[in-house]
Amino acid sequence: MVKVGILGAGGMGNVHARQYRKMSDVDLYFFDPLPDKSEAFAKQWDVEPLDSPESVISKCDVVDICLPTDMHVDAGLQSISAGRATFIEKPLARSVEDCVRLMSAAEKGGVVLMPGQVVRFFAEFATGHRLVKKGAVGTPAAARTRRGGLAPLGSRGWFQDHARSGGVLLDLAVHDFDWLRWTLGEVTQVYARSVGIQVGSGPDYALTTLSFEGGAVGHVEATWMDPSGFRTTFEVAGSKGLIQHDSRNNAALRTTFDGRTFTDNALSPTDDPYYLELRGFLEAVRDRTEPPVTGYDGAMAVSIALAAVESAKTGVAQVPVRP
Ligand SMILES: NC(=O)c1ccc[n+]([C@@H]2O[C@H](COP(=O)([O-])OP(=O)(O)OC[C@H]3O[C@@H](n4cnc5c(N)ncnc54)[C@H](O)[C@@H]3O)[C@@H](O)[C@H]2O)c1
Repeated sequence: MVKVGILGAGGMGNVHARQYRKMSDVDLYFFDPLPDKSEAFAKQWDVEPLDSPESVISKCDVVDICLPTDMHVDAGLQSISAGRATFIEKPLARSVEDCVRLMSAAEKGGVVLMPGQVVRFFAEFATGHRLVKKGAVGTPAAARTRRGGLAPLGSRGWFQDHARSGGVLLDLAVHDFDWLRWTLGEVTQVYARSVGIQVGSGPDYALTTLSFEGGAVGHVEATWMDPSGFRTTFEVAGSKGLIQHDSRNNAALRTTFDGRTFTDNALSPTDDPYYLELRGFLEAVRDRTEPPVTGYDGAMAVSIALAAVESAKTGVAQVPVRP
C-alpha cells in the first residue's frame, strides 16, 4: 500500500480523492484548516483528517498538493525536503524562480516531482497530440485553442486575487500553453492582451499569440467571462489537413441546473484524465522513473504564461525564459 496525503480539501482535493478511491493500493490521508471543508471531505471519502500539513508530510509516502497556487512552493519544498514524492497541482508555482527551486530540490533529493498539467491526459487532447506528432495534418502551421467558463472563486475567493492565482493567463491558459508546447515544440515569442490584467482582480479574458520554434503560430483564448458553461476547443491546421475539437460537440452528457451547465464524457472510471494523471505519477514513484509530466514541463508552462502576463501588462511581445 502507498500512503497518499492530500493538502487542501477544496475543489481539486476532492477531484483527486475521487480518483484515489478507485485505487485499491492507496491509503488516503489529508489536512485542511477550514472545518467545513475538512468535515465534508472526511465524510465524502471516509477518511479521518490529520492535524497539520506537517503530520501529512511525516505520515505519508507521497504528498499531493491541492492548495491555492501561491502556497505551492512552500508546501512543495517542505514535502520534497522530507524526501516525499510530490505532486503539485498546476500551475507548478507562482513564479519561474519558485519552479526552479522546486525542480532543484527534487533533483537534489532524488524525489519524483510532477505538476498537474492534466490536459495531456484528456482523451481528445492526448489523441490530438498523437495525431499531430504522427503527421496527420502535415507540417503544423497554425493552432487555436479556447478554454473557459465562469470565474472560479475558490476558498475565500483566492482565484480572483490575481496576485495569488496569476489571473486567467497563469491559472487557465497555462493548460493550453503546456499542451501546445508539448505538441508543437518550444515557444519563441508571446504577445498577449487581457481585459483584467491592469485591475489585478476579478473576472478576466485574455488572448495570446505564440510563435513556435518550428515556424507555427498559435492563438490561445482564455476566459473567466463565459456564463454559458465550461468549454474547451482546439484546432491545428497544417500543410496536409486540419484537426478540431470542441468539448460541446463531444460531451455525451450535458446537465443544467441552478443556472449552471455541466458536461460529462462517457468514459469508464479509469479513463478519467485525473485518474490517468495520478496513476501515471504513482507508477513513476513506484518504478523510480521520470513522471509523465516533468518539473521542467511545469516550469516552462509557467514561464510562457508569465511572459504572456508581462506582455499583457506592457503591450510588448516577450520571450519566455528557459529555466
Ligand atoms: N487541474 C485542474 O483542472 C485544476 C482545476 C482547478 C484548480 N486547479 C489548481 O488546483 C489548486 C487548488 O485549487 P482549488 O480549486 O482546489 O482551490 P480551493 O480554494 O477549492 O481549495 C484549496 C483548499 O486549500 C485549503 N488550504 C488553505 N491553506 C491550507 C493549508 N495550510 N493546509 C491545507 N489546506 C489548506 C483551503 O481551505 C481550501 O479548502 C490551484 O493551484 C488551482 O490552480 C487545477
